[in-house]
Amino acid sequence: MLVLEGVDVFYGRIQALHGLNLHVDDGEIVTLIGCNGAGKSTTLRTISGLLRPRRGGVTFDGKDLAALPPNRIVQLGLSHVPEGRRIFTNLTVRENLDMGAYLVRDPKARRERLDRVFALFPRLEERMDQPGGTLSGGEQQMLAIGRALMSRPRMLLLDEPSLGIAPILVKEIFDEIARINREEGTTILLVEQNANLALHRATRGYVLETGRIVLEDDTKNLLQNPQVKEAYLG
Ligand SMILES: Nc1ncnc2c1ncn2[C@@H]1O[C@H](COP(=O)(O)OP(=O)(O)OP(=O)(O)O)[C@@H](O)[C@H]1O
Ligand SMILES: [Mg+2]
Repeated sequence: MLVLEGVDVFYGRIQALHGLNLHVDDGEIVTLIGCNGAGKSTTLRTISGLLRPRRGGVTFDGKDLAALPPNRIVQLGLSHVPEGRRIFTNLTVRENLDMGAYLVRDPKARRERLDRVFALFPRLEERMDQPGGTLSGGEQQMLAIGRALMSRPRMLLLDEPSLGIAPILVKEIFDEIARINREEGTTILLVEQNANLALHRATRGYVLETGRIVLEDDTKNLLQNPQVKEAYLG
């Protein structure tokens, strides 16, 4: 479904990704783990068209993404939940969700999407008229994911959904991510610093170190891998 081949990405003169090869098949949950600064967010920004590869290719269902603006990439069914859950703090929960559905013209279809998001995250329905900025960190993450789901994506790119969230809410969010994959058939590329959590939820994983993929395997093997255990599972 998604294929990155030999992708090099630069910030000015600094190279952040080196010949990245990665693929995600339809229906999978794949995780990309790595330390601070490894290039995880850079990878997601490249897929969603916010950054352009200097070399290499990115395709989604065989379509070349490198030539498309970010809004066209969303229309193809790829939705990115950026790091740090960037919601509109002054807009209500409901308004934030509506923003995610700007590509959905039919009001009935929008209503159905909204009901679906509320079914997945009942807390959002309870807080529908509250400004986004008054939600807790975990609830804001739910809102960011909910907003991405409003466009009915076929693939979700999630950047560190666990960051800065209490463990109990993290579990709730990861349960919902698994449910979105299972019930909506949404394919998921999950970026995480919390390797333990991510490797227990995904089926396949990649380990990124300073812009290079150093390991790629089924997560059950990665969990047993001495190198992974030592560096990422403490
Ligand atoms: N806008 C930018 N300008 C210059 N360099 C950048 C920029 N954004 C990121 N970088 C650099 O690119 C490298 C990869 O950063 P990236 O944000 O992709 O890492 P990450 O794996 O997501 O890290 P974290 O876990 O801390 O979020 C880092 O060395 C970072 O300093
Ligand atoms: Mg990051």
